[in-house]
Amino acid sequence: MTQSYQITLLPGDGIGPEIMAVAVDILKVVGKQQDLTFEFNEALIGGAAIEAVGDPLPKQTLDACRQSDAVLLAAIGGYKWDTLPRHLRPETGLLGLRAGLELFANLRPAQILPQLIDASSLKPEVVEGVDIMVVRELTGGVYFGQPKGVFSTETGEQRGVNTMAYTVAEIDRIGRVAFETAQKRGGKLCSVDKANVLEVSQLWRDRITDLSSEYPDVELSHLYVDNTAMQLVRWPKQFDTIVTSNLFGDILSDIAAMLTGSIGMLPSASLGADGPGVFEPVHGSAPDIAGQDKANPLAQVLSVAMMLRYGLDQPTAADKIESAVLTLLEQGYRTGDIQSPGTKVLGCQAIGETLIQNLNQG
Ligand code: IPM
Ligand code: MG
Repeated sequence: MTQSYQITLLPGDGIGPEIMAVAVDILKVVGKQQDLTFEFNEALIGGAAIEAVGDPLPKQTLDACRQSDAVLLAAIGGYKWDTLPRHLRPETGLLGLRAGLELFANLRPAQILPQLIDASSLKPEVVEGVDIMVVRELTGGVYFGQPKGVFSTETGEQRGVNTMAYTVAEIDRIGRVAFETAQKRGGKLCSVDKANVLEVSQLWRDRITDLSSEYPDVELSHLYVDNTAMQLVRWPKQFDTIVTSNLFGDILSDIAAMLTGSIGMLPSASLGADGPGVFEPVHGSAPDIAGQDKANPLAQVLSVAMMLRYGLDQPTAADKIESAVLTLLEQGYRTGDIQSPGTKVLGCQAIGETLIQNLNQG
């Protein structure tokens, strides 16, 4: 029987629409092959939504997302909106979407593909075989803690405030996702905090340690975030699964991404306890190359694979997409961000067409 899914598409800003177009074509082809039908509903977010309706996350968009089986997001943001008041910034739309759908668990894999070892800025022997999953807490911590804002002190001086806070329940639920993720991977979990300085981190460390008794098959370690940043570029192969708070995860996932050569390759999945997940590339909207057919659509395409695997429970369809990407790299095709001597640079659209050929031949 044909399985049918409602997918909300949020192309957003910059290169978003170009990479989304490629991803949707791929999804349609795989759908035909696997007897899945997709009903697409496009909605506004970020700068595009600010331009159209003056709100980076219109209520209509959040409602549409809630009613769908999964949400595929491209990228938001651009110089044009960087100086607007915070409630009107594209980023506020994205944070509102994460909070509105209660997507507390953000999975960011960083895997070195053998074909791209030369694209990494690190030595091949350092990055070869790297396969890390960063589990980032996404709806708490300093991104959302109260109080926040810019306030006047008694002397009339302005004072900016954000609050890094986690409740036990928030730590436990991300901790469980992380332990379960590690169980399905290499069985090693590294919890990252700043417990030598921050109380909130001490609570984090204590809870993760307590939880570990329920997962005796997972080997747990703890590292401070500054040391983790160093270890990630020194010897990344020591890591399997990393669990950390919102801000630390934001930073560490960019470092992990760069090990692979380009942030243009990395997908992510944001999941809640139930309800639809949001699947999006880790990279941003790259306004400098928008509209020039230069963008790398592979992170977006791999986000489709994550959507099929983690959001829709269609692992075979996900495998097909991932193997079409590997074949394309094997064939020597690259976008500008991952080119190396001897490879052939293609535009965003041509990468999509080649992927479709690979899918049809695979
Ligand atoms: C990310 C981005 C976002 C974040 C921005 C765009 C709000 O950097 O998804 O990593 O900080 O979470
Ligand atoms: Mg980030």
